[in-house]
Amino acid sequence: MTTTTSPAAAPSRTSAPRARGGWLWITLSSLAIVAFAVGPYLTSSLAQLASSRGGLADNYAHRPVPVQVAFYVHVLFGGIALMVGPVQFLARLRQRRPALHQATGRVYLIAVAVAGIAGLGIAPVNRAGFDGFFGFGTLAVLWLYTALRAYRAARGRDFASHQAWMIRNFALTYAAVTLRAWTGLLIVVQVPFLHGTVTPEVSSHMFANAYWAVPFLCWVPNIVVAEWLVRRRGLPGI
Ligand code: HEM
Repeated sequence: MTTTTSPAAAPSRTSAPRARGGWLWITLSSLAIVAFAVGPYLTSSLAQLASSRGGLADNYAHRPVPVQVAFYVHVLFGGIALMVGPVQFLARLRQRRPALHQATGRVYLIAVAVAGIAGLGIAPVNRAGFDGFFGFGTLAVLWLYTALRAYRAARGRDFASHQAWMIRNFALTYAAVTLRAWTGLLIVVQVPFLHGTVTPEVSSHMFANAYWAVPFLCWVPNIVVAEWLVRRRGLPGI
């Protein structure tokens, strides 16, 4: 008996470069969002950001302290999950340094648990209103649930299920990236329909139009792609 690697876990020669390219894209886009979306909250106050940059800071600058704390906890731990997540998919690291994979896996799952609970806490006051409450709320519940399933599968040494649940879980973490991509795209597609100059009121209206769609759009396609990847790799279904 020479090897125990299942065909599902080992990409073919032709799919390996594509998988590496995909991993690189996901890693770089995740790091970019950590730098550009999380970074400002670590270097400036909510009040400063609300007056200089707008975005979502003005939704939190005047909230009660517990809401602001939940917001910061979410942003900080969400950033950690997004930075650490891609590392967990490095097959070589998993095989050569399993203890490191376990340690970073714990950091990732704790970050998801903390950011997910804080995300649930801020969902009721989100900028998109009722639609955001359901979209972000469902995302937070699924994020926590898939993390729990991934953890339990690893503890039970069911590594095929663990891999499948981690793919689903990280697809949800990656909503932090797709949310910003969809928001940008949905703002750009409104440009041809503009008449006259873009006043602050017009750009705020364009942002609101785009933001209305993203509480669901940021994660539903991701989970469909994750499920396709799980099936393509022959990993266990739900
Ligand atoms: C996947 C589960 C997640 C849920 C349910 C969630 C939920 C939320 C909610 C409800 C808000 C407030 C939105 C508003 O006020 O309109 C928010 C904002 C934010 N979240 Fe998350 N989030 C998740 C993942 C992440 C991750 C992984 C990161 C890491 C980068 C992150 C970083 C942020 C940041 C930086 C903001 C502030 C908004 C901005 O200025 O762009 N979130 N999130």
